[in-house]
Amino acid sequence: MSDVNERLAELAQIGRVEHGIDRALATPAERAARLRFATWARERGYSLTQDRVGNLFARRKGVREGARPLLVGSHLDTVKSGGAYDGAYGVVAALCALEALDERNAETEHPIEAVAWVGEEGGRFPFACVGSAVFTGAFDAERALALTDSEGVTLAQALASSEGGLLGDVPQREDSRVAAYLEIHIEQGPILEREGVSLGIVTAINGQRRYRVVVNGTPGHAGTVPMARRGDALCAAADMIHTVERAALSTGECVVTFGTLVVEPNAPNVIPGRVAFSVDIRSPEDARIEAVEVALRDAAGDVNARRRVAAAIERLQGHAPIPMDPKLRNAIARAIDPLGERVIDVPSGAGHDAMLLARIAPSAMIFVPSIGGRSHVPDEETSPRDLGLGVAALTASIIEVERFVV
Ligand code: HGY
Ligand code: MN
Ligand code: MN
Repeated sequence: MSDVNERLAELAQIGRVEHGIDRALATPAERAARLRFATWARERGYSLTQDRVGNLFARRKGVREGARPLLVGSHLDTVKSGGAYDGAYGVVAALCALEALDERNAETEHPIEAVAWVGEEGGRFPFACVGSAVFTGAFDAERALALTDSEGVTLAQALASSEGGLLGDVPQREDSRVAAYLEIHIEQGPILEREGVSLGIVTAINGQRRYRVVVNGTPGHAGTVPMARRGDALCAAADMIHTVERAALSTGECVVTFGTLVVEPNAPNVIPGRVAFSVDIRSPEDARIEAVEVALRDAAGDVNARRRVAAAIERLQGHAPIPMDPKLRNAIARAIDPLGERVIDVPSGAGHDAMLLARIAPSAMIFVPSIGGRSHVPDEETSPRDLGLGVAALTASIIEVERFVV
């Protein structure tokens, strides 16, 4: 059985760039990672299927073959300049857990499937968790396939290409039933490390909303247009960003991030005529997200009234805060108790595919610590010991959960 650390080290070379890893959906690097997963699965005799958007499933047979499968997985895509563990760990750990079941000759009633969801980060095509959203019916497949990247390439075109597309000779998946879903993931935050524990059971996943804001102003000569007559799109955007940041701070228990900003024409001596920026609001409470969204809309109205610009807000997607399944959480706690590790309950500030699976099936997550709480950065790191311990916890949890799900 290959070690989780060896496999992660191998995956980390796929899509490696000067700073970190770039494995955006349906790029050659991300396809190569899916192909590596498929090869590992085939080597163990698991049967592979993939769906129309590229989600990849490796199935270990159950005694009752027609039973709904227990899905265990995460994602292989990364953010730009991402780390080696966000998502990849959950996919590799799922495969290692299936192999651990083989080593024990463990028979399960249900088929168990390791899953690589596509497009969880939503970096290239503007929809996070696009793979699990299509699989769970939360997002229409045709709309997903029509999403376009910044070059105007649609997801359908990207998946049809030989470089970044669907894997050849992998049968189409028809079955979208799920008995239950488990996902192991790095915490991507500071709690486990601060508490000195190696395993966390996730209580709930914070809600999130994503927007695109476009501000249209009037481009002009930097030296000749008086300040009072400008429609400066960038100054208007900065005004909005500052106002919304202050609103999040005063609302409390929420975070807001403006991760992307594009200026046109982006020249030092031209007044910006158009600016597009992203807004990502998150909180354990929907009402706090709503309060910050209201501040965003008010900020747009304010700059439209004062600044000779037209700011428009497009809400791209939203997920309410979602609790993990209490019965599964208790089963995980029972399952990992014999490991002799202190385990704590922990909320998830980060979003995960489990947000989508939890809408159609009992779902739960296990966390392992992130060193320094760092993630979405090249030096994202978790100790080899914790990564290995997580596989043992996931394996035990699969056995325990599988016993009682229908
Ligand atoms: O953005 C997130 O929370 C996740 O890492 N995609
Ligand atoms: Mn992730
Ligand atoms: Mn991520």
